[in-house]
Amino acid sequence: MPNDDDLNRPRPRFPGFAPGDPNPVLDLLMAHRSVRAFTDEPLPEAALDQVLNAAQRAPTSSNMQSYSIVVVDDRDLLKQVRAICGDQPFVSQCAVLLVFCSDISRLVHICEQRGYRFRADQVNTLLVAHGDANLACLNAAVAAQSMGYGTCMLGNVRNNPPEMSDLLGLPKYVYASVGLAIGVADEDKGTKPRLPRSVMVSRNRYDPGPLDTALPAYDRAVRAAGVYDGRREPLNGLAPGQEDPVAVEDYGWCEHTARRLTGAVQDRRRDLGAFLDGKGFSRT
Ligand SMILES: Cc1cc2nc3c(=O)[nH]c(=O)nc-3n(C[C@H](O)[C@H](O)[C@H](O)COP(=O)(O)O)c2cc1C
Repeated sequence: MPNDDDLNRPRPRFPGFAPGDPNPVLDLLMAHRSVRAFTDEPLPEAALDQVLNAAQRAPTSSNMQSYSIVVVDDRDLLKQVRAICGDQPFVSQCAVLLVFCSDISRLVHICEQRGYRFRADQVNTLLVAHGDANLACLNAAVAAQSMGYGTCMLGNVRNNPPEMSDLLGLPKYVYASVGLAIGVADEDKGTKPRLPRSVMVSRNRYDPGPLDTALPAYDRAVRAAGVYDGRREPLNGLAPGQEDPVAVEDYGWCEHTARRLTGAVQDRRRDLGAFLDGKGFSRT
């Protein structure tokens, strides 16, 4: 991490880019796409160093820095992580997997050290730590992408929390919140269309927007971009061999997402709450 003197050196007000001007920061953000196939090229230590610096510079709630990062680059360990994280091949292919852990162990420690009773055993602390870990993860992703690397976040680190904890040696008050696979991209699937702004952004007062027109339009855009080509979420209740009643031209984000939310995939993390209780993260 650059020292504080370096980071705090006086600098002129960042001139910024005028709207519409060429802007490499926005270009990078707008070009974001997840990458799920990597070459076997390694991530140089100098690049990893900068990614970790950027992660640690992320804003953090009350400056509590309630997360830790486990850098996983041991090939055998990556295979084990892959096996318990949905078996997605990119997890063992990537050069490095950063596991961002929500971590309140340091906070508990400094309270105990002083003999103060830890009173932050409430759900807000869980949200704060989860938020911190995910913000740091995003900073790391942007930093890696700025150096030309591909990235994919990995919520599947929460598929089997006890095994994940054992594999990485995570103690009480620490759980794997989100992963970030980094490597040289071996695919380019392009950017995925996002929901229309009209249904996601409102001004001054929440307005759910024109769902009846926006969602079908979004489905058309998603289909045109081929986002779900060759990919279907299983439909709950469909007997083996029974034909899927939804035609290709009707399968889009709405159908896919509704199936995900109502399908067996939802059983995967049923025990997460109880696990978090055991880890010392209060849910009340
Ligand atoms: C918190 C979080 C967890 C994610 N977990 C996974 C994952 O476990 N596996 C995966 O393939 N993609 C994962 N992704 C990537 C999303 O699927 C991806 O961001 C989304 O489909 C939008 O695509 P894009 O990133 O290419 O725009 C995750 C993304 C986020 C933000």
